Amino acid sequence: MNKIPSDNILQSIRSGLVVLDHHGVVIYANNPAMKILGLDDELLIGKSWGELFFHMGEDSDFSQVIVDVIAKERLNAHQEVSYFSPAHQHRQLSVTTSFLREKKTVTGIIVQLDDITELSELRCRERLVNEERQRLSLEMVDSMKKLSLSVAHVILNPVASIGGFVHLMMRRIDKENPIRQYLETIAECAGRLENVSKSFTEYTDIQAVNYETIHLAALIEGLRPKIESIANRLEKKIRYNVDVEDHITAHIDPALFTMALDEILMNSIESIEDGPGEIDIIVYKAACGIIVEIKDTGFGIDNRHIPYVFDPFFTTKTSNNGMGLFKVKKIITEHLGSITIERREVVGTKVIIRLQN
Ligand SMILES: Nc1ncnc2c1ncn2[C@@H]1O[C@H](COP(=O)(O)OP(=O)(O)OP(=O)(O)O)[C@@H](O)[C@H]1O
Ligand SMILES: [Mg+2]
Repeated sequence: MNKIPSDNILQSIRSGLVVLDHHGVVIYANNPAMKILGLDDELLIGKSWGELFFHMGEDSDFSQVIVDVIAKERLNAHQEVSYFSPAHQHRQLSVTTSFLREKKTVTGIIVQLDDITELSELRCRERLVNEERQRLSLEMVDSMKKLSLSVAHVILNPVASIGGFVHLMMRRIDKENPIRQYLETIAECAGRLENVSKSFTEYTDIQAVNYETIHLAALIEGLRPKIESIANRLEKKIRYNVDVEDHITAHIDPALFTMALDEILMNSIESIEDGPGEIDIIVYKAACGIIVEIKDTGFGIDNRHIPYVFDPFFTTKTSNNGMGLFKVKKIITEHLGSITIERREVVGTKVIIRLQN
């Protein structure tokens, strides 16, 4: 095999390479290094690192890299530093250093340079977007709090009075009286409005404070009696299958987390219309944390509804408020987790909760 000249190889790599001798004088720089530093070989080769970079006040982090290597013997130190080219262009560089050795003697320092300006701008933009998202979500929680207080005063109190008086009137009117039907409708509507206002206040009260290390298998198995009794009451045949390894624990507020699972499971029960149905809860550990999957064999979520199901008051049901998944999302976010919902391929719906380890 032909021997490829090593300079060819060094010029072909994307990283910049600068080699300093043991006096700190540049003895080699490949083309990418010159491009990154904005210096040509005449300006670079034969100059000492100090001569080249120490006078640039702005570049103190960059020039410091070599000082660290020599004075503190920091090798293979990977640093991200700002660099200003002679044309005053700012670049963000990733700098890695290692010693150049001949036999066992150190003869110089190799400096590897990568221009990560674009990457760090992207990271910066992503951070700003995340901060903005966080700010908006805090703002939303804040507005919801204010709204809920107004709802409590403006709707809940009058609605409670309407409901109370209607029930009193119904007691004084015969069952046969046609007016009774109107009163029943008023009572039902007042009840619904009362529920909406209550779920609003409940939403703003959601705050995970009592964190504990919980065995998820026990918590999820503990929901079985409730599921079975609701299914019985609604005369539905539902099998509840739990597949959670015993050792999996999570740092959660058990009361709140149970509330979230209750809402999700209630949706599953409601989606199983006729015939026997199944609800499976599977929990496993993944690289990104703990995954909790809740699957049902119900009528399945409509793909067009998925973007809206975590919004307040979104419902496709006739007598529900559409606050369930809105509360669930808040609970999971309180736990710094995430939640998604999808239509299963053959039948039913799958909810996926991701919790940090
Ligand atoms: N397991 C599921 N199967 C099918 N559709 C679902 C399922 N879970 C949620 N959905 C859809 O998402 C909508 C919103 O769910 P959400 O729990 O927020 O409200 P809701 O159940 O309608 O009312 P509430 O929970 O306040 O009683 C539901 O109306 C339904 O269309
Ligand atoms: Mg619901």
